[in-house]
Amino acid sequence: MVWNTMSGFGNAERGNNPSPQRPLMTLTYRSRATSPLSETQLGDLQHAAAIRNSREGITGLMVYNDDRFFQWLEGPPASIARVWSSISRDQRHADIEALSVHSAPTRLFGKWHLRLSTGPADAVLGGVHAENAAATNVAAERLAALAIAAEPNDARVLLHAAYADFQSMSAVTELLIEPAARRLGDLWADDDCGEYEVTLGLCRLQTFLREIAVDNVQQQHAHPLVVLVAPLPGEIHMLGASLDAEALWQAGHETRIRFPSTEQALKQIVATDWFDAIDLSLSPAFTREHRADQMTHIIDAVRRASMNPSLVVIAGGRAFYDRRLSGATVHADATSTSAAHLPDDLARARRAHV
Ligand SMILES: Cc1cc2nc3c(=O)[nH]c(=O)nc-3n(C[C@H](O)[C@H](O)[C@H](O)COP(=O)(O)O)c2cc1C
Repeated sequence: MVWNTMSGFGNAERGNNPSPQRPLMTLTYRSRATSPLSETQLGDLQHAAAIRNSREGITGLMVYNDDRFFQWLEGPPASIARVWSSISRDQRHADIEALSVHSAPTRLFGKWHLRLSTGPADAVLGGVHAENAAATNVAAERLAALAIAAEPNDARVLLHAAYADFQSMSAVTELLIEPAARRLGDLWADDDCGEYEVTLGLCRLQTFLREIAVDNVQQQHAHPLVVLVAPLPGEIHMLGASLDAEALWQAGHETRIRFPSTEQALKQIVATDWFDAIDLSLSPAFTREHRADQMTHIIDAVRRASMNPSLVVIAGGRAFYDRRLSGATVHADATSTSAAHLPDDLARARRAHV
């Protein structure tokens, strides 16, 4: 098997892998229905999803209970990444939270392209506390640990292997890199590592990201926007801005990434060049709630300084992912919870703004 529990993503072993089996990956997530689904709507959703899953070689389970979804998907990583990209954009649900992603030795739902249950998830999985059992993103935890190890090469190998398996930058971003960054923040909060190590780990992830991004191809966009991407002045963690810039560029936008160290420097940038939108981010690892007032002040100042009176402002970072802050709180037009969805968030924010 290509993925193994030792390395999470085991591409490194691919050369000596005697098994002709394709790698198998399991992804679980939970979410909340944006409005309750009738039996017919649920049946239609399952029917259409099962057809596509069958084409993609995916099997799994969907539990719908009390307006909450829990889903278990298993299949080849690139198929999972494609279907995940659709699911995570689907407006029928919100508060989508990827719980786990890891290699699997075998399928649990081998006969079911999408088994549907409307009972509690635990009941369907034979009394296993499914969400709890699944709540550890093994691969992301491993990536975080490797990123702060004395020798970071295993982190590089894991990330490159994951990218080769997923064949999707947005899947690697949302399912691995961003959760690994949050994991680093949690390790710090639990006193399991120091602040310096978190910064070091994030820098290393950023370096490896650049390595895997070199082959990326930019899509054509019918209406490309000029977007300024920057960490909030004073924010030393730049991984979020790098992921955002990469995602927007790949989606076809004209992206300029800058690292202004002061509010004045940021105002200068928007006063000198035209931008349709600005993406400002806080740390992807720490919550930084205490910077809410400063962020609000800076966003107000940037709007006043901007050459574009209708500048669209998007705010991102862990505080927004954890819903400790919202875009409205800091006077932004929208909130970004993952770089993987930033191009869609930007399109929505712009439509609402115009
Ligand atoms: C809770 C939920 C679970 C879903 N599960 C699947 C699934 O397992 N497989 C699938 O192909 N589509 C699934 N969908 C539907 C996709 O979001 C999407 O509508 C469909 O795959 C078509 O893709 P497209 O919108 O990119 O064309 C699900 C949607 C929701 C709301």
